[in-house]
Amino acid sequence: MSKRVVVVTGSNKGIGLATVRALCKNFDGDVFVTARDEGRGQQAIKDLEKENLHPKFHQLDITSKESIGKLKEFLEKNYGGLDVLVNNAGIAYKSASTAPFTEQAEVSVGCNFFGTLDVCDALFPLLRPHSRVVHVASRAGTMALGKMGKELVTKLRSSTLTQPELIALMNQFVSDVKAGNHEAKGWPAWAYGTSKLGVIALTAVQARAMTGDSREDILINCCCPGLVATDMYPKGPKTPDQGAETSVYLALLPVNAGKPQGEFLGEKKVIPWLKDGAGMNFNPL
Ligand SMILES: NC(=O)c1ccc[n+]([C@@H]2O[C@H](COP(=O)([O-])OP(=O)(O)OC[C@H]3O[C@@H](n4cnc5c(N)ncnc54)[C@H](OP(=O)(O)O)[C@@H]3O)[C@@H](O)[C@H]2O)c1
Repeated sequence: MSKRVVVVTGSNKGIGLATVRALCKNFDGDVFVTARDEGRGQQAIKDLEKENLHPKFHQLDITSKESIGKLKEFLEKNYGGLDVLVNNAGIAYKSASTAPFTEQAEVSVGCNFFGTLDVCDALFPLLRPHSRVVHVASRAGTMALGKMGKELVTKLRSSTLTQPELIALMNQFVSDVKAGNHEAKGWPAWAYGTSKLGVIALTAVQARAMTGDSREDILINCCCPGLVATDMYPKGPKTPDQGAETSVYLALLPVNAGKPQGEFLGEKKVIPWLKDGAGMNFNPL
């Protein structure tokens, strides 16, 4: 049997690096740091080596289909599959950013939603039975839902929402922002929150699609790490190791655990985001 393997995206620093640290200690197989910048990725490997941990490295920019394709080829050739995928890579404009909102919307949705989706679409065919997939979303997503018009809320929470419909909604947000009528159309003026809500809704869509899959026991969930002191949010009260706890818990769900499936979790507990008010009362990020 091929060696088991886990990939963590955006893991040269922050919560991703902490996720790799924990998985090196607890996962029976190879753990991959991936980073868009080779130098930053190799530095992370060196730092973890000093802790006597031995992850491997592969370049991955989640906004480049070419880069995603190279990782897929590498995994197929060297491992014949994939056992755990942690979609941690993400970006957030600082609240003080002066970048135009049109740019913030396009870049945030492009990286956080479409980048994550492209990684999934490429790597899901490699998932073996009993695989675990974790998307690092944010309670910003459920808070954004709380600021949306009723029609959008109903669509995003629908138990029949499909991947093409969700893609169309995320594209609609970006084009409505460009047209300057996003608020009239029921969208919040919040690029990061909307992009992360897309990831939360995607989790439910993907988990439903797994129901008809011939591979047994593949669990797909997403989580909020809480407010974590990283370059993204230096004031966060949690350490990166604490922020990684729910990702690691979901990545290591035991064989045939059965659940959670398609859920959004915080502090290892399901956040019932389909109910009004749930997960909407939290500090952003
Ligand atoms: N910190 C918080 O309080 C908080 C709260 C809720 C959710 N989150 C989420 O948690 C995840 C990790 O965030 P963090 O706090 O650890 O932030 P971070 O320290 O800024 O780390 C983000 C990581 O994502 C990588 N990345 C960004 N764009 C990428 C791309 N196109 N391709 C590949 N990697 C890319 C970054 O690489 P570079 O070093 O090259 O930039 C970095 O490794 C994110 O999804 C974030 O939205 C964080």
